[in-house]
Amino acid sequence: MAQKVWFMTGIARGLGHALAKAVLARGDLVIGTTRHGEQPAGLAADNLTILPLEMTDRKQIVCTAAAAFARHGRLDVIVNNAGYGLLGSIEASTLDEADHVFAVNFFGPLALIRAALPRLREQQCGHIVNISSIAGIAPTPGAGLYAATKSALDGMSYSLAQEVAPFGIWVTVVNPGSFRTEFLSTRSVLRTSRSIDDYAVTSGRAVDGLLTRDGQQLGDPDRGATAIMEAVESDEPPLNLLLGSDALDRARGRLDRFEEDLTRWERLTLSTDFTA
Ligand SMILES: NC(=O)c1ccc[n+]([C@@H]2O[C@H](COP(=O)([O-])OP(=O)(O)OC[C@H]3O[C@@H](n4cnc5c(N)ncnc54)[C@H](OP(=O)(O)O)[C@@H]3O)[C@@H](O)[C@H]2O)c1
Repeated sequence: MAQKVWFMTGIARGLGHALAKAVLARGDLVIGTTRHGEQPAGLAADNLTILPLEMTDRKQIVCTAAAAFARHGRLDVIVNNAGYGLLGSIEASTLDEADHVFAVNFFGPLALIRAALPRLREQQCGHIVNISSIAGIAPTPGAGLYAATKSALDGMSYSLAQEVAPFGIWVTVVNPGSFRTEFLSTRSVLRTSRSIDDYAVTSGRAVDGLLTRDGQQLGDPDRGATAIMEAVESDEPPLNLLLGSDALDRARGRLDRFEEDLTRWERLTLSTDFTA
């Protein structure tokens, strides 16, 4: 198989680190970003280039994308991986907290995609892989704004996939369930600066439950990386790739609830068309 050039954000640790390691082991070329261009532990390889990228820095996103294309003259796969979780009720979160989580999880990836598209269209090939979350499909209490960033990424990706298909560009949204990375550790996850007692039984309980799973998550990042590689290698890559049995259960639960609303309220839904 031909050697591919991958560009991925946030390879210092977690899923990005696992994916970079797996892709390097396959012999492909990786251009990976870390926040300050520091070399990630355990990833030294001739086929690895590190570039600096802070996802909230729009100018740097444009420069880093240009440097990535210049490195080997093309990019075959672009993985928007860097991101973080914000936990707390919607009411307790501040608009600054909302702005920041959207800047990192949605506007950063959007800026990167926009910077890459002219080159991808020129190439007439490429694959954009957006690491979303099962939260983007089936949100739980206590992570509403994080879920909103991922739903936004999903919605944008579904539209983008249709817009760029004629140029030979694929788009895949990856929706992982819980993976055993540092995602839930205090090094990564943020909690809203305020909390409101009235939400103790909904978002409070959900957040406590989530945080007790730190280090016990079902998902193996190395297996996740292998699955993403297999999807990218496919002749017809998926638009959505769910990762993990928990992700599948949550997606099915959401679909059942959606189907229930469609059926139960069908009469009302169909009542709004002009009759002539
Ligand atoms: N693990 C899960 O359970 C899970 C589930 C669903 C979706 N996801 C998604 O998977 C992706 C990777 O998460 P992970 O599980 O690997 O978490 P992680 O172990 O916390 O790693 C997160 C990575 O994102 C980078 N990052 C965070 N904010 C950044 C910023 N402002 N600018 C640049 N880089 C930034 C981090 O860089 P530093 O090392 O410099 O902080 C780190 O490399 C995220 O998009 C996350 O939403 C994870």
